[in-house]
Amino acid sequence: MFTLRPARETDRAALYRICLETGASGQDATHLYADPLILGHVYAGPYLTYAPGFAFVLEDQRSGEVMGYVLGTPDTAAFEATLERGWWPPLRDLYPDPADVPRAARTPDERIVHLIHHPPRAPHDVLAEYPAHLHIDLLPGAQGGGRGRALMTTLLEALRVAGVRGLHLGVGESNVRAQGFYRHLGFQELRRAPGAVTFGLRL
Ligand code: ACO
Repeated sequence: MFTLRPARETDRAALYRICLETGASGQDATHLYADPLILGHVYAGPYLTYAPGFAFVLEDQRSGEVMGYVLGTPDTAAFEATLERGWWPPLRDLYPDPADVPRAARTPDERIVHLIHHPPRAPHDVLAEYPAHLHIDLLPGAQGGGRGRALMTTLLEALRVAGVRGLHLGVGESNVRAQGFYRHLGFQELRRAPGAVTFGLRL
């Protein structure tokens, strides 16, 4: 049995762990990264810090363990600007920019550190229609039982209440399971680049 509840600051370590354990196109990425926090710094931490009202978790009622999350932000452009001011600078001090390492030679850690120094901006045309974005990850023991849908429904309702008109998300091209999940929930494919697919949903 699982409880769905708003995320709390005390969930931060669990969010980082789940991010890592689902970080290889939905599979465990623990063996890929030397630094177990590096993925969470990009895909989990800033959402809990800067958009806590749009962060929800699944808690196993018996163990009290957090088993999954959905993390969103209603205004991607504002979120990117906030991260540029407050989130990335200390991380850039901590992790040197691997820009001098040729792209093909970068380790998985270096690829993520490169994102910390050079975060991609969501395209304007996507933001015009779909200003919010999200990340959702459930550990294997919580997958496939309707809980991903429940987390999405909760976040979508919070975004609607906030007056948001649409949201987008990026998913790895090889993560076909998650792509099927998004299509089933009504998302439309917006664009496809090497390695990544962008989906959008009007609210
Ligand atoms: N194709 C078609 N339909 C699907 C698929 C699929 N691949 N997967 C699920 N569905 C359907 C289900 O049948 C169900 O239908 P129903 O509600 O109409 O009966 C509905 O989608 C909801 O399925 P859930 O059981 O809620 O899905 P789940 O709990 O497994 O959550 C998720 C899906 C989030 C992808 C989960 O499996 C997961 O966390 N996987 C690992 C991490 C991951 O890949 N995260 C996405 C990264 S991309 C990003 O965050 C933007």
